[in-house]
Amino acid sequence: MLNIFSKKQFLIDLLKDFVDIHCHILPGIDDGAKTVDESISLIKKMSELGIKQFIATPHIMQDFYPNDELSIGNAFQSLIENLAKKKLNNTVINPSAEYMMDNHFENLVKQKDLFPLKENYVLIEMSYFQPPINLQEIIHDILMKEYKPVLAHPERYTYYHGKKEFYKTLKQLGCFFQLNLLSLSDHYGKSIQKTGSYLLDENLIDFVATDTHNSSHIEKLTNMVINKNKKTKLLSIIENTKNTFLVS
Ligand SMILES: [Fe+2]
Repeated sequence: MLNIFSKKQFLIDLLKDFVDIHCHILPGIDDGAKTVDESISLIKKMSELGIKQFIATPHIMQDFYPNDELSIGNAFQSLIENLAKKKLNNTVINPSAEYMMDNHFENLVKQKDLFPLKENYVLIEMSYFQPPINLQEIIHDILMKEYKPVLAHPERYTYYHGKKEFYKTLKQLGCFFQLNLLSLSDHYGKSIQKTGSYLLDENLIDFVATDTHNSSHIEKLTNMVINKNKKTKLLSIIENTKNTFLVS
């Protein structure tokens, strides 16, 4: 969507050959795509935006989405087979997960039994209502098992909006931060937008991703305009995401 007559910078123009490291495109196992057809439709739309590779990250959340190697493997297999039937097998998709930091997760860490995004990077999230009481201990345990924790959408944990210095503590502990691209719009609300912008300005963001659950997320991404003074920083984070996670 290049528009040479306007000064508007569309986000999607920055996403050529991007690798989306956080999206809910596996069918029927979490609150993302419900069917294989929906998965394929999301993948097609995102590919048209320039996204080249996907790391599918279904929730693993003991209370709501108790996914494991089997459920994720089956959903992935069924998606791959159906993409091949439709001759769409040039899309690179790898399965991984987005882990809620609950008791089940703590056990998986102890057993060193996590599905990384790539190499040792693991995508983690916490409740939107409160952080785990032993958050720092969990992060320490993850690091002790030689994983690299990537905290999904730190800007969405509103309990930190009033104590932003804690974000720096988390980074110092060894967390990588993944910003949701839609957080730079008002999609999740003004406070999240402001915090996303703060984290970007403070150079606390390592990676970006779409966290796509449905087609309305893609429509919003398609129409997103990026503030010119955010463009340079965002471009370098997009490059870092590609350099870290693209597979050849
Ligand atoms: Fe997610």
